[in-house]
Amino acid sequence: MRCETFSIESFLSPCDCLVVGLDSAWGESEEISKLDAATNGLLRRLIEAEEISTKPLTVTQLLAPAGLPVKLLLLVGLGAPDSKDTSVFSRAAATAFKAIASKKRGTVRVIGFKGTALALRGAVSGAMIGCVGQDLFRKEKSLQSPDGIQWAGIDEATVHSGMILGEAINFSRRLVNLPPNYLFPESLADEAIQLGKRQSLEVDVWDRNKLETEGCGALLGVARGSVRDPRLVILRYSGAAAGDAPTVLVGKGVTFDSGGYSIKPTDGMLTMKCDMAGAATVLGIMQAAVQLKVKHNLVAIIGLVENLISGDAFKLGDVLTARSGKTIEIHNTDAEGRLVLADCLNVALDQKPLRIVDFATLTGACVVGLGLEISGLMTNNETWQSEIKKSADACGEYTWPLPMHSFFNEQIAGKIADIKNVGEGRYGGAITAAKFLEEFVGGVPWTHIDIAGPAFLDSAKPWCDAGGTGTLVRTFVELLSGIE
Ligand code: BES
Ligand code: MN
Ligand code: ZN
Repeated sequence: MRCETFSIESFLSPCDCLVVGLDSAWGESEEISKLDAATNGLLRRLIEAEEISTKPLTVTQLLAPAGLPVKLLLLVGLGAPDSKDTSVFSRAAATAFKAIASKKRGTVRVIGFKGTALALRGAVSGAMIGCVGQDLFRKEKSLQSPDGIQWAGIDEATVHSGMILGEAINFSRRLVNLPPNYLFPESLADEAIQLGKRQSLEVDVWDRNKLETEGCGALLGVARGSVRDPRLVILRYSGAAAGDAPTVLVGKGVTFDSGGYSIKPTDGMLTMKCDMAGAATVLGIMQAAVQLKVKHNLVAIIGLVENLISGDAFKLGDVLTARSGKTIEIHNTDAEGRLVLADCLNVALDQKPLRIVDFATLTGACVVGLGLEISGLMTNNETWQSEIKKSADACGEYTWPLPMHSFFNEQIAGKIADIKNVGEGRYGGAITAAKFLEEFVGGVPWTHIDIAGPAFLDSAKPWCDAGGTGTLVRTFVELLSGIE
């Protein structure tokens, strides 16, 4: 989809559809008063009669209003112009475009979004997210992107970087939405290879043989139950001096999580194609980071397996030896993500990283604690964690830190091996999972992000179709670009 700018002078010229962001200070806006004049005062009358609302994300559609050369005029509320709610611009644009995308449109013009470059990139990317649905295999798509989107009052560079962001988020969403018979370790590795080709990134793919010679016993333990071979993919981007230590992005890529012998009930298993969302987040971030030429060296590491059941699957009581040499007692085969990540994090250490972040749909416990919309942050380095939180706050994405007290370590002590893969009982399950991961980061600044809640929507929101959300792609692309 084309995203471009257009001159505000021409906003009353013909187009398919005009979207207007309407804040509570609409009375002072020159465009609104021109629009109002063109419609012979209709707009003012409707706003004053509270038929059109400036309340955030409220949408009003007017069909072919007299005086305007458009088929559809859509107004979307932006609330107070100085609102502290940083999610409004992206969600308002997404909500407006999701409403418009119910049928195929030509060019859609947008006016009335005024703010910082960060907020405007949110709007431009949000619009693109609103237009794309999860129904990849439906003949008649429920949402259709317009031919083009034109933004007034936003400079070209901002529209361009917003578009890159939107494409990256939609890329990540698409990967999550692909069903598990289409997206499995090998095919997800192929997606990473394609990304590498598109962006001239260096890509290494470790197949089963290589994983065996590298001693990735934790990841391989999970992979045993599947006839599909696992993969570990490493992508490298250099945006800084060769000697600069890289930021390493690690992603959990369990393309389907049945739970293994600790099998999940049907309801819990149904959406477990989403268990590779961490890997999809990492790939989305890499795509945008390269296109925006961020000034960091980056390494992405994704661990790709299917957690299934077979005569050869790993069992409760098994002991696995991780790449780091640590031995792990399996107490629950459904706590598989941390096993995959244990080996990925160890590979991350080979890169002599400046800092590590991992993204994982790791625990139901995190969703119980923080709800569906907030990702859990757990760290061994407060500075790195607050840098992430700050960017997430600025982008209107929700994160919250969980405490990493050392007494949780006792819960993961093994009986016959070094450690076990679950805590004692269910309590604090998001934290005991993070404590397990901490065993594999060797003291390097690291933040673990449990995205089990926000990564996937069971039902649609006004601003996003159900399915993958691409959560935190924007936060990290902005973080790496240096927010202004
Ligand atoms: N992939 C799940 C976590 C999950 C739950 C993701 C809900 C998305 C939505 C993970 O592998 C898992 O099964 N975790 C277990 C851990 C437990 C066995 C210690 C859980 O949360 O129940
Ligand atoms: Mn699991
Ligand atoms: Zn899982």
